[in-house]
Amino acid sequence: MYEYDLLVVGSANADLVIGVERRPAAGETVLGSELAVHPGGKGANQAVAAARLGARTALLARVGDDGHGRLLRDSLDRAGVDTAWVLTGGAPTGIALITVDPSGDNSIVVSPGANAHLTPQDVRDAAPLLGASRVVSTQLEIPLGTVAELVRMLAAGTRLVLNPSPPAPLPADVLAACDPLIVNEHEAAVVLGNAHPGGAPEDRARALLALGPRSVVITLGAEGALVADAGTVRRVPSVQVDAVDTTGAGDAFTAALAWRLGAGEELVDAAAFAARVGALAVTREGAQASFPTADEVASLASR
Ligand code: RIB
Repeated sequence: MYEYDLLVVGSANADLVIGVERRPAAGETVLGSELAVHPGGKGANQAVAAARLGARTALLARVGDDGHGRLLRDSLDRAGVDTAWVLTGGAPTGIALITVDPSGDNSIVVSPGANAHLTPQDVRDAAPLLGASRVVSTQLEIPLGTVAELVRMLAAGTRLVLNPSPPAPLPADVLAACDPLIVNEHEAAVVLGNAHPGGAPEDRARALLALGPRSVVITLGAEGALVADAGTVRRVPSVQVDAVDTTGAGDAFTAALAWRLGAGEELVDAAAFAARVGALAVTREGAQASFPTADEVASLASR
């Protein structure tokens, strides 16, 4: 019945990546590695990750009419993402300035560029695409008003997955549509605001659920993840790997989870699968280039 397993509505960035021994403090200059330019952006990353796993995937996004836009289109096309709704123009392609330290951790600053011009009208124009998609996944590198319109336009029966990254306080109707809301601890703190309980992450999962989402996933890095829905909060263990570059691993996790939910898996099983996808993504450099195939995930599971 659905043409797409997953529709991603989100950002597309050129990632300008420099390896550093350590990040500079305020007012300090450090030397880093050669500059690498990779296709990235949380939306495009999710779309590529899902398509590489075998999901029928489309992306609604906006890039500039420039070399970075073409870099992104090439990567999406190679992965098999339907790019008919990757719109062009409005501003140059978004840019992410990324430093990666020897532990594989990153720091990112995004200049949104064309992502800021993905409008509520673009979402309305894409109504047929929304109706053809089993699951819709989005993030916050596009305007919050565009995300809110997406929520209003969702067809009955279409499931929404939201990773509010970079984090912002969310309106009640957006929160109520999330199934699940996927956050790390930092994002959870921003979404919870004054409702933030200290103590165990389980308490934060319950506090997030009380804000209205139908389900919640809190990612905890090496501690795995928490999944919470009506009445239950469960832990999903992490998969131990040697991290090279964590960039995009959260996007791969979210895409994998969204795809498996659409295939009918329970949230806890989908999160366990997604944890393996995220783990493999940190073992290779870059974002989209690091995402595994379904066969690679199966090999990891049998180790
Ligand atoms: O989540 C990783 C992504 O965040 C990078 O690819 C970068 O573009 C920023 O959007």
